[in-house]
Amino acid sequence: MSKTITGFSKLDKEEKTTWLINNFLSDFPESHSVLNQYLNPNKKLQQLHDEFIENSISNYYLPFAVAPNFTINNKAYVIPMVIEESSVVAAASLVAKFWSKRGGFKAEVLSTTKIGQVHFMYAGAYLNLETYFNAIKPTLLKATESITKNMRKRGGGILDIELRDKTSDLDNYYQLHVTFETKDSMGANFINSCLETIANTFRKDDVEIVMSILSNYIPDCLVKAEVSCDIDDLGENGMEFAKKFYQALQIAQVEPYRAVTHNKGIMNGIDAVVIATGNDFRAVEAGVHAYAAKSGKYKSLSQCTINDGVFKFWIEIPLALGTVGGLTNLHPLSKLSLNLLQNPSAKELMMIIAVAGLAQNFAALKALTTTGIQKGHMKMHLNNILNQLEATKDEKMMLVNSLNNQHITYNSVNKALQQLRVR
Ligand code: MEV
Repeated sequence: MSKTITGFSKLDKEEKTTWLINNFLSDFPESHSVLNQYLNPNKKLQQLHDEFIENSISNYYLPFAVAPNFTINNKAYVIPMVIEESSVVAAASLVAKFWSKRGGFKAEVLSTTKIGQVHFMYAGAYLNLETYFNAIKPTLLKATESITKNMRKRGGGILDIELRDKTSDLDNYYQLHVTFETKDSMGANFINSCLETIANTFRKDDVEIVMSILSNYIPDCLVKAEVSCDIDDLGENGMEFAKKFYQALQIAQVEPYRAVTHNKGIMNGIDAVVIATGNDFRAVEAGVHAYAAKSGKYKSLSQCTINDGVFKFWIEIPLALGTVGGLTNLHPLSKLSLNLLQNPSAKELMMIIAVAGLAQNFAALKALTTTGIQKGHMKMHLNNILNQLEATKDEKMMLVNSLNNQHITYNSVNKALQQLRVR
């Protein structure tokens, strides 16, 4: 039987599943029931999810959790998080509480400019191209007016179009570098539609348009979040803790191997809220990591100082987010998340998400520089294994106590559970 198929997307869900089972899943007899048990019995809701993408055959669940007790700019928040990693939400909740007793988080949006580019080739004289660009620039803006109308009403739109000479990097390569303000929408469709219209209007015989696309690198769409307190308020060994924490940050500034992991911990918090609010986590990931390497060397996104007895810890990151459009209002749980956050503007969401990243980074560095990371991880891991083994509440309580501080594997927990059961 052939294992390739034409017209797969035209098959209905049952036909798609049957074809997959016959061709690729014959050794996994539970395929049909696994796929079906994740379908939503509410047909309308299932259809909504099916229509997000092509060839949907089921739903893939991730836990939807909340981290309460965040104070950001003196306002209380419960932050929604979608993530599978066991320690992330617990860490966020602990850190939220810790800092809410020390003045909370402060955050500010530094800039909101987004970028898109029309990439093209031109082999003629630069002066002629520049003259053509200057003459046609008002027409380029005019051509986009119907697309930008609503955005302009909301105070956004195209900020500028620049001609950029990139021939020192690549022969004949030029760009129209376009800057945008997209207010409460992430703006990907808006930006790409504007760019394609600009490209079509700019096109002429000696200009070869290669592509028109937004950039996910947005170094001028920045948000800063910070916490600070007197060293004495950090706890019993405040100065010792602060110094080690500072050293950990210095290491992440100079050592890319550590910086990547350090920033991954930050993204644990950021991605979880980006996903919960229906935003594009791939765009955020790409932009944030590029920003971490903006100096030419990959570095920590967060920094820390200890001055005059005050500990200060902050993060500065680019975030392209929306609170209208895209999935934000389509996915019922994204909609709920935004309501839970009291319907933030995109700017407010930038601040909330930067705080989630900073909180996660604080939790990781606190654990790493004191108890080590495995203590907390193992506790959550143990809980997951006990659930998998269908341990009762009493069995869980006994094993959590007896396996405390031990290295946890599925087999070691299973063995301890079986021993407990034969006792
Ligand atoms: C694990 O998901 C994240 C950490 O590795 C982050 C870090 O090392 O800073 C704990």
